[in-house]
Amino acid sequence: MPGSPDGYTPLDSGVWGLRYPGPVKALLLENIHPEAVRLLEGAGLEVTEHRSALSEADLAAALPGVALLGIRSKTQVTAAALAAARDLLAVGAFCIGTDQIDLAAASAGGVAVFNAPYSNTRSVVELTLAEIIALTRRLTEKDRAMHAGFWDKSASGAHEVRGRTLGIVGYGNIGAQLSVVSEALGMRVVFYDTADKLVLGNAHRCVTLDELLETADIVSLHVDGRPSNSSLFGEKEFSRMRPGALFLNLCRGFVVDHQALRAHLLSGHLAGAAVDVFPDEPRSAGEEFTSVLRDLPNVILTPHIGGSTEEAQADIGAFVGGKLADFVAEGSTSLSVNLPQVALPPATGTHRLAHLHHNVPGVLAEINSVLAAHNVNVEAQLLATRGELGYALTDIGIDYPDDVVARLREMDPTVRLRVLS
Ligand SMILES: NC(=O)c1ccc[n+]([C@@H]2O[C@H](COP(=O)([O-])OP(=O)(O)OC[C@H]3O[C@@H](n4cnc5c(N)ncnc54)[C@H](O)[C@@H]3O)[C@@H](O)[C@H]2O)c1
Repeated sequence: MPGSPDGYTPLDSGVWGLRYPGPVKALLLENIHPEAVRLLEGAGLEVTEHRSALSEADLAAALPGVALLGIRSKTQVTAAALAAARDLLAVGAFCIGTDQIDLAAASAGGVAVFNAPYSNTRSVVELTLAEIIALTRRLTEKDRAMHAGFWDKSASGAHEVRGRTLGIVGYGNIGAQLSVVSEALGMRVVFYDTADKLVLGNAHRCVTLDELLETADIVSLHVDGRPSNSSLFGEKEFSRMRPGALFLNLCRGFVVDHQALRAHLLSGHLAGAAVDVFPDEPRSAGEEFTSVLRDLPNVILTPHIGGSTEEAQADIGAFVGGKLADFVAEGSTSLSVNLPQVALPPATGTHRLAHLHHNVPGVLAEINSVLAAHNVNVEAQLLATRGELGYALTDIGIDYPDDVVARLREMDPTVRLRVLS
């Protein structure tokens, strides 16, 4: 801020959208979808793009002057890179995971992080359904035989999915949507989830995992990646499954014991499997894929592509791009991964104070007493807290003394204050 020891003036010292000096800069790495660029440029940002990820040192060198950073899964946004990013307001992870970002360091510096948790839900559901049908009809075996010159028209071992029971383990975003679409195909759906979930359609909630395993013709895993789900499925669970059942895992590799799955496929206890995620996945296209599941009959192996569609990429670009644009213009943190979530409708004829602070008693009272002492009326105000942080959006009339902003910045609990017009 003006007068800081090194004479540096951070970008958020002015009034955004009014007296802001020059265009707000966004740096997008890793070939982010053009939809994001279109949205950010439409919101008045100056966008610079790089096709690849940057190293920690290159990122730290590139970030001064940048307000928004867009990355995918390869760029590591470390505490050191963030320490160099004095102007950074937000990081958009144009993907699902945020493990590549030091969230604690981002929060401590008042940097909002957004991701796209729902954009590829439909893509995973469609691949799961395609594989359920392919396994039930033994399609990949027929396909392989035809390519090898064998004409086998037999119906043996091929079934319709209609009337079969699908057991969904993990009834979250993906599991619940799979439930709805599968019922439309005439399947009976049972599910098991450790959390209370709204039951959709005619699905039946199983009280225990064993109940699901003993009922389902097809078991599909859609649990999240919490550490306790490591080896959730092993010898005991596969043994409980019905003879001739099918097994699918499109959630996380470490959830399944692949040796146990292999044994049950080879013994014929399970009729087939589809696996999209693996405990050890190659880091690049050139690296060999090794797995004990290779070369087994009626087993479909895919390279972690459950969410990889052009539609999902476009949706991710629009979703995260929109979150970043809303954060810059309105201070909205709705669906932020790390900051308290607050959104006020856009207002005219007011300035908005976006005040991020340490979550200690009395902050709101202190903000309001500064405003009252300067005879400033509050038009609208919302506060939310999350862990160690609080975030308040306050709309005030545009005639106020500059001292108000200086006093709010000086408050002990203040992490960051932006004034939006
Ligand atoms: N293959 C891919 O490319 C791809 C793409 C997107 C998501 N995924 C993965 O799919 C999984 C599901 O994603 P989502 O968006 O539906 O997640 P979500 O968080 O919405 O749902 C997960 C559900 O699993 C439940 N759960 C967790 N542990 C459980 C357990 N031990 N037993 C029963 N239920 C349990 C949770 O209560 C929750 O309802 C995640 O692991 C995600 O990483 C994979």
